Amino acid sequence: MNKYIDDTKKVILNTYTKFPVVFESGEGNYLIDSNGDKYLDFVAGIAVNALGYNNKEIKDEITKVIEKGVFHTSNLYWHSYELEAASKLINLSKLEKVFYCNSGAEANEAALKLARKFGSKDNRFKIISMNHSFHGRTYGAVSATGQDKYHKNFYPLLDGIIYADFNDLESVKKVIDDKCCAIIVEPLQGEGGIIPSTKEFLQGLRDLADKHNLLLIFDEVQCGMGRCGKPFCYQVYDVKPDVLTLAKALGGGIPCGAMVVSSKADNIFSPGDHASTFGGNILALSASSVVLSKLEDQSFLNEIVEKGAFLTNGLNNLVKKYPEKLLQVRGLGLMQGLVVKCNPFDIINGCLNKKLLVVRAASDVVRFVPPLTIKKEEIEIMLSILEEVINAI
Ligand SMILES: Cc1ncc(COP(=O)(O)O)c(C=O)c1O
Repeated sequence: MNKYIDDTKKVILNTYTKFPVVFESGEGNYLIDSNGDKYLDFVAGIAVNALGYNNKEIKDEITKVIEKGVFHTSNLYWHSYELEAASKLINLSKLEKVFYCNSGAEANEAALKLARKFGSKDNRFKIISMNHSFHGRTYGAVSATGQDKYHKNFYPLLDGIIYADFNDLESVKKVIDDKCCAIIVEPLQGEGGIIPSTKEFLQGLRDLADKHNLLLIFDEVQCGMGRCGKPFCYQVYDVKPDVLTLAKALGGGIPCGAMVVSSKADNIFSPGDHASTFGGNILALSASSVVLSKLEDQSFLNEIVEKGAFLTNGLNNLVKKYPEKLLQVRGLGLMQGLVVKCNPFDIINGCLNKKLLVVRAASDVVRFVPPLTIKKEEIEIMLSILEEVINAI
């Protein structure tokens, strides 16, 4: 395994800090490494593998496409998969139209361009984003990301992005002027530390967007797709965006992104304004339709709410028991963060040694984003491993 990792390092650009594990297969909510060891997965490929591993429904659907042997035809032509997935997205979101792409950053690039075109007729171009936000690594998306650590060494960034404080409506009001065209926000901040919006904040943004004729963009790349117990996180708050960006779990493990827009935003782009060669890829959308069908199943969503409450309760019990090491639990549904007072990597590495996968968010949060198919018994196993690790620190 070490030789494999060493050889790979020689040919892959050094942009990631990886754990020394090589995964070869998976089953349900477990990954299996090259030694045959099983790892209970509370990372899910960073909130991607919503239906776990070796999922029969996804495999059956993509197998049908593989047997036909046509995975891609480009956006010069039509195919039936784009209609099926878009109809489900519209049914679930109660928005109007879909643009397909391949990743979260691309979905946000589409949203930023849409916002700029929306504002262009009256020379409005400023986009308000939040401190601690994360929107991706392409130039527009990283510029919209409200964290200096992602900016340093990459100046100059995209012009016209201004930052306000998350969950602080007054700070947003202070930066709004007649040059603004949009607000972009994660309803539940992910990379910034698993920080949920308050209802007042999201509703306040909706009111400000209406008052100043701004597009309200919700980046649900991480918190969307059922993770918070409703198809989309904004439905937990009952506050609707004009533009919704999605990726990660949308393709159930196959790269897929989308921007979904309301009627306020559905006539802004014209042919030629924006495009993606792979956007709406047949293989990706065949998998996506399976994941979206799951979100149409109310009992699947109810289970996420129940399992999320069980997870939160278990984590809260640990905070009560180990107050010198743990600070608090934050999150919604199956997107939870344990804010720690110790080094989060002591916990993450300790869990890895015990064959449990968890991932960091911000500098002091251990994040739990398991497949949505995680079982209550598996949450119990995770909590007992986590406690052993915390106890030993
Ligand atoms: C909220 C949010 N937006 C955008 C992105 C970027 O997604 P991608 O890595 O698919 O470009 C991420 C990735 O973590 C994210 O969490």
